[in-house]
Amino acid sequence: SHCIDDDILTVIWTAEQVIQRVCELASQINKDFSSPGSSSPVVVGVATGAFLFLADLVRNIKLPVTVDFVRVESYGSGTVSNGAPKISCDVKLDVFGKHVILVEDIVDTGNTISHLISYLESKGATSVSVCTLLDKPSRRKVHFKLLGDGKFYSGFECPDSFVVGYGLDFNERYRNLGYIGVLKPEIYE
Ligand code: PRP
Ligand code: MN
Ligand code: MG
Repeated sequence: SHCIDDDILTVIWTAEQVIQRVCELASQINKDFSSPGSSSPVVVGVATGAFLFLADLVRNIKLPVTVDFVRVESYGSGTVSNGAPKISCDVKLDVFGKHVILVEDIVDTGNTISHLISYLESKGATSVSVCTLLDKPSRRKVHFKLLGDGKFYSGFECPDSFVVGYGLDFNERYRNLGYIGVLKPEIYE
């Protein structure tokens, strides 16, 4: 087989730029959630895309957080949302009365995150914050509302092109790139 770097047309954010920004987001979370007497948050990664970001983020969070995953299926093998997300792998931890930070690789239409916020609200979370590495506001269809005094953390604003790497896939591949880039058109055409 071949080297996946050869399939990349342009690098948008290098591995160094990504990790630098992840550290800044972790610092902000450390500040926002360190008030004495308040309980430490439950950090919930949205599988599969958030796995690398979640790992690097929590490594730089200095609070006694707990970590969990949730999986929601809204896209088949294609790149277009079918609009009806389903929780296909539930959180293991009890989020009742907890501050939750949902971790995403990208917020695109907002469909996935909006569904997850409502779901965590139904499970009794006190607040839901969202920490996404990439935000693509140009594609937003669902204007989600955070729960309680939840905050929105975003690493980079993403141009309206199909990006891969650092968790983001095309047909389940390229998640293992350390940087984020755009595929050569011949790969997805
Ligand atoms: C991608 C991405 C986000 C979601 C964003 O996940 O990782 O979770 O889509 O899109 P939206 O804002 O339009 O809902 P995907 O469903 O492809 O699953 P994956 O994380 O396993 O790749
Ligand atoms: Mn995802
Ligand atoms: Mg995907």
